[in-house]
Amino acid sequence: SANDSPEGTQQTGTHDSAFLRACRREPVPHTPVWFMRQAGRSLPEYRKVREGIPMLESCARPELVTEITLQPVRRHDVDAAIYYSDIVVPLKAIGIDLDIKPGVGPVVANPIRSRADLAQLRDLTPEDVSYVTEAVGLLTAELGPKPLIGFAGAPFTLASYLVEGGPSRNHENTKALMYGDPQLWADLLDRLADITAAFLKVQIEAGASAVQLFDSWVGALAPADYRRSVMPASAKVFRAVADYGVPRIHFGVGTGELLGLLGEAGADVVGVDWRVPLDEAARRVGPGKALQGNLDPAVLFAPREAVETKAGEVLDAAAGLEGHIFNLGHGVLPNTDPDALTRLVEYVHTRTAR
Ligand code: CP3
Repeated sequence: SANDSPEGTQQTGTHDSAFLRACRREPVPHTPVWFMRQAGRSLPEYRKVREGIPMLESCARPELVTEITLQPVRRHDVDAAIYYSDIVVPLKAIGIDLDIKPGVGPVVANPIRSRADLAQLRDLTPEDVSYVTEAVGLLTAELGPKPLIGFAGAPFTLASYLVEGGPSRNHENTKALMYGDPQLWADLLDRLADITAAFLKVQIEAGASAVQLFDSWVGALAPADYRRSVMPASAKVFRAVADYGVPRIHFGVGTGELLGLLGEAGADVVGVDWRVPLDEAARRVGPGKALQGNLDPAVLFAPREAVETKAGEVLDAAAGLEGHIFNLGHGVLPNTDPDALTRLVEYVHTRTAR
């Protein structure tokens, strides 16, 4: 089993899975599919096991993490599992006073806005998140050849929660800090890069086969500002895990104008939302990268025929790509009918079988 093999090595079969082959831009037996937020509120079995357990507490229980991570794999036959956690878990683990409020998102008690506030951010050690090591071990054993994707929030998206104190539409305080005190901003992002890199390393060393960096809110920035004020920190994260040789996926929402830079930051796979067709996204990203995406998650509320028409358009736009992983353009919406997701996986597998 995975537990008998040296750290960081993969179980037989995993390396040749359709998902990892597509990440490496190798020929695939079918286009692999997984969904961002595939674990979670769209599944009744998730709501059942989560009953009465706060979100962050659920993330620290290895058996529960294992069960929740496996639920969408069993139900939908997706090509990869994504580790059940949240982007704020490593911040909580280093002692930042924060919580995830149902229907709201992460809320931070003492927002970071001054140099003194930086003291809240200490380095993350593997011991801070021993439950992650344990859960990834349980999962890789259960998953067999099916790959497990580890993930983390990118420095900008984490900074947005830390500086605003919670979810934000316009990121006013974040941008005020970024433009008003570039040195403090750079120091904040650099610390977050180290924490993020350490968190990804824990997941990879425990057996994760790929990692995704979620920079969900970075589409709020113009390219020049991204390049100057954010890309150095995200690039540091990607560099820090480069030697493991596991595919690195980079995703954000509303990033049409940033797609080239998201690749340049050091990703092997660039995640694309539904606003840019994949053939155009490939031109923007350039050669040497696979793409992931990009069905609008709201399409799943339409009748089956419409879902298949729109999914077919995604596959047609992806036909000339070097490597394509089918996904939604953002996470599964909580009210999505899980059967629509199961049917979508089957549609993509059948239509792309080679
Ligand atoms: O299946 C998976 O994709 C793994 C699970 C996962 C969660 N959070 C679980 C979760 C992942 C990948 C995340 C990442 C995450 N968390 C991101 C990046 C992805 C994205 O959507 O852009 C962001 C921005 C967050 C912050 C966050 N956490 C938000 C905005 C929310 C939703 C708040 C709400 O209730 O509407 C959360 C909470 C959260 N994270 C839930 C889950 C399943 C819902 C809480 C619950 O079930 O009680």
